[in-house]
Amino acid sequence: MSVETRLTILRSPHKNRSSSFRRFYNITRLYMGTSDGPMIGQDIPLEELTARAQRALRTRVLGRRIVAEPEVDSTNRLAREGIRDGASAGTVYLTDHQTHGRGRLGRSWSAEPGQNLLFSVIIETAGPVLTNIPLRAALAVRDAVDVAVSVKPVEVKWPNDVLIRGKKCAGMLLEAASSDQSRLVLGIGVNVNQISFSPEHRETATSLRLESGDVVDRAALFCGILERLELRLLNATSTRWMVDYEKVMYRRAEDITLYFPERESSVSGTIRGIAEDGALLLESPELGCRAYYAGDVTTRIPEA
Ligand code: BTN
Repeated sequence: MSVETRLTILRSPHKNRSSSFRRFYNITRLYMGTSDGPMIGQDIPLEELTARAQRALRTRVLGRRIVAEPEVDSTNRLAREGIRDGASAGTVYLTDHQTHGRGRLGRSWSAEPGQNLLFSVIIETAGPVLTNIPLRAALAVRDAVDVAVSVKPVEVKWPNDVLIRGKKCAGMLLEAASSDQSRLVLGIGVNVNQISFSPEHRETATSLRLESGDVVDRAALFCGILERLELRLLNATSTRWMVDYEKVMYRRAEDITLYFPERESSVSGTIRGIAEDGALLLESPELGCRAYYAGDVTTRIPEA
């Protein structure tokens, strides 16, 4: 198989879902630098990333089929197209480079080619509370990142950003792909080994490599994310995720400003936690404790 062509990898379902991530992560760290693999300081090509993930992944549904494209406009767009063409739930669309990567609130998502994780997963839901999926997904990504780097803290910023030492290293974009919302596309971008960011992002964005000082194995991280994602998303009836989320929630019990970019307005208050439907519980002196469903958690209001 060549990196120049679309790679589609089919895997049979695996029954043993016990996390192999740490073991795999350690093995691949050793593997890096041997004559079998890339030297420390280098990243692996997409083809190898996909093949290694396909061998190591312990999931039932997510990643059973991986479609890898060297370059696309947006993996979320590709996944929606896949749904139209009959792709099954759990199919993952992975790329090394997006020309029009999309972020939350109509923003763009840019990432240097070949150094990061950029992928979208088709999710099928039967559960009633769709609105908490971004938070459960963020927790899965956060936990995988936490295993991959030794630096702390690794936190989730409501609703679904992952931060290392207060800087964003990963974001998620969830989009409905069918009118009844039973099919969703969850796009995930993780800054893994990129070491330079544009001046406007330098203060707020980071990567696993920048924080830890080590090249991080993208294949191991990819598997770790998908395995945790499957556990967090498929077990929709448990509310355990709420306890886990609040434990690692950025600025919980602290004062923040929730900024609404479309209205250019904001409300300030203390983060009290989250509701089961994914809302942010924010207590302000004027309004008391209220649930919010949109907005940017910030410690300062962005300049106009
Ligand atoms: C955000 O924090 O604003 C969300 C960023 C989501 C980016 C990912 S990268 C893979 C997928 N494809 C896209 O176009 N966007 C998501």
